[in-house]
Amino acid sequence: MADSIRKSCRGRRNFIKLCMGAVTAGQLRQSFAVGNNLFKRYNRVQLVKLNNEPVLPDDLEIGQSYIFHYPFVTTPCFLIDMGNALSDSVQLNLENGQTYTWSGGVGPNQSIVAFAAICAHKMTHPAKSVSFINYRHETINYRDKNRKLKKGSQLIYCCSERSVYDVKRGAKVLGGPATQPLTTILLEYDDTKNCLYAIGTSGGDLYQRFFRTFTSRLQLEYLTTKVDAPVNRKTEVILNKEFSKTQMTC
Ligand code: FES
Repeated sequence: MADSIRKSCRGRRNFIKLCMGAVTAGQLRQSFAVGNNLFKRYNRVQLVKLNNEPVLPDDLEIGQSYIFHYPFVTTPCFLIDMGNALSDSVQLNLENGQTYTWSGGVGPNQSIVAFAAICAHKMTHPAKSVSFINYRHETINYRDKNRKLKKGSQLIYCCSERSVYDVKRGAKVLGGPATQPLTTILLEYDDTKNCLYAIGTSGGDLYQRFFRTFTSRLQLEYLTTKVDAPVNRKTEVILNKEFSKTQMTC
């Protein structure tokens, strides 16, 4: 832990030295997203480790995916440090024709992103026993919308019916039956404390459909009757491969 804190402080000093004029970039970028008409504000919730300490950007291993729950106690999200700056905005479409803007990564390197870990097709999501939807940092094969074989990296792949999402472009659909991107989880990077918060969502909203479909199973898995209770104040971040005992990849 001490190592990770030292690393974080070092990273922060470098960030300030290199980007004096851009120290508030995380805040500015977050404000841009807030201006989007598909923005939904939920509780401002700090991302924390299992020991309740804040998740620092340097705690995230590049290429790994982490799970946290937001905006509800049973709705899982992916948290990923992509390892490269994602500074370009991307225009995205929902299946109903609405458009919204994804404004890239946050954190000192603008490389940290989060999305609902709920497939936009039939809502496959990580469960504690198994996950059929996973982040693939490495280069893999997939089939695009025209069923052509492609290679790609930094993708979220749902093995249920093989929907593929491009994380670098706001989880835009590259292949499979999904008709809209994964819901964006809006993150805020507090550069004064070097920590991360979830503040809302942007894009498609599948949550009511999710609860209608999965409430019974979620009650058993999370041992609560209030599966749609909002997350308050803090949410724990855990490695995806530790959250789900079995990872199904395809
Ligand atoms: S639920 Fe993900 S592709 Fe069908």
